[in-house]
Amino acid sequence: VSLAACAPPENLAADGSKIVVGFSQVGAESGWRTANTVSIHDAALDAGIKLRFSDAQGKQANQITAIRSFIKQRVDVIAFSPVVETGWDEVLTEARQAGIPVILTDRAIRTTSKDLYTTFIGSDFVKEGTLVGEWLVDYYASRPGTVRVVELRGTTGSAPATDRAAGFRAAIKGEPRFQIVASRTGDFTRPKGEAVMRAILKTDRDIDVVFAHNDDMGLGAAKALEAAGLQPGRDVRIVSIDAVRDGMKALAEGRFTFIAECSPLLGPQLMDLVNKIANGQPVPPRIVTQETTFTQEQAKAALPDRKY
Ligand code: AHR
Repeated sequence: VSLAACAPPENLAADGSKIVVGFSQVGAESGWRTANTVSIHDAALDAGIKLRFSDAQGKQANQITAIRSFIKQRVDVIAFSPVVETGWDEVLTEARQAGIPVILTDRAIRTTSKDLYTTFIGSDFVKEGTLVGEWLVDYYASRPGTVRVVELRGTTGSAPATDRAAGFRAAIKGEPRFQIVASRTGDFTRPKGEAVMRAILKTDRDIDVVFAHNDDMGLGAAKALEAAGLQPGRDVRIVSIDAVRDGMKALAEGRFTFIAECSPLLGPQLMDLVNKIANGQPVPPRIVTQETTFTQEQAKAALPDRKY
């Protein structure tokens, strides 16, 4: 009998049973999140992996409950996209004690020991913020004067909000004419992005740029600007992160000015990792998602083929 014949068939656990993965999702706060959830469901189906999916509705407590329930159910692998960065040590120690490997997807955590999870697949959020900042510095190089920036931040304490803010600040650091005149959280949602922007516009209409940590908040801000009689793309430039369909449409139409991509299509790579880990194969500790950036012209060209 050859060694290959002894190897477990693809996408089954080492004991020959169907692989079960428990996945705890952040919620449904944005177009990005919806596309991410669809990608995970589709990929599990394609890979023949049984998915137990739990929506935390934006609450860390719900994620901790879901992870404990996955441990009780003795799933083969636990994967989750953490709402916030801190507060995971206890529940992940429980998973480790139960011998269940954990994969972080999309967002990082801060933990006292790195061996509480096997691998982390997701974007480089610092780079995304940096790309937006660098593009703005370049864009304004031929436009003199102060650049007044409003920042709409993602969920407080989440890795993308912290890292995008840091990357953006690093990129504009050497340019004192860039002034962040307001920085408030819109929790990655369209309604909150709109509400925060409306509130800011009550006291300050002298805004050059809105840097939204995701497309949805940028779209909410666009609505608020329009309601205040300001034209996004002409009076105020909206730059954001994600490149979901609605954001790309706004960019192609000239309402947005620039987007750094954050890919939600993590499903296939995640299921590949689940399969390998369930079969005791080695995986790299960090997998960084491949991404690009879009100007208005590039959005027009990319939009017809955009999948999400
Ligand atoms: O963690 C990824 C971020 O979360 C996306 O940029 C945002 O749209 C989502 O809500």
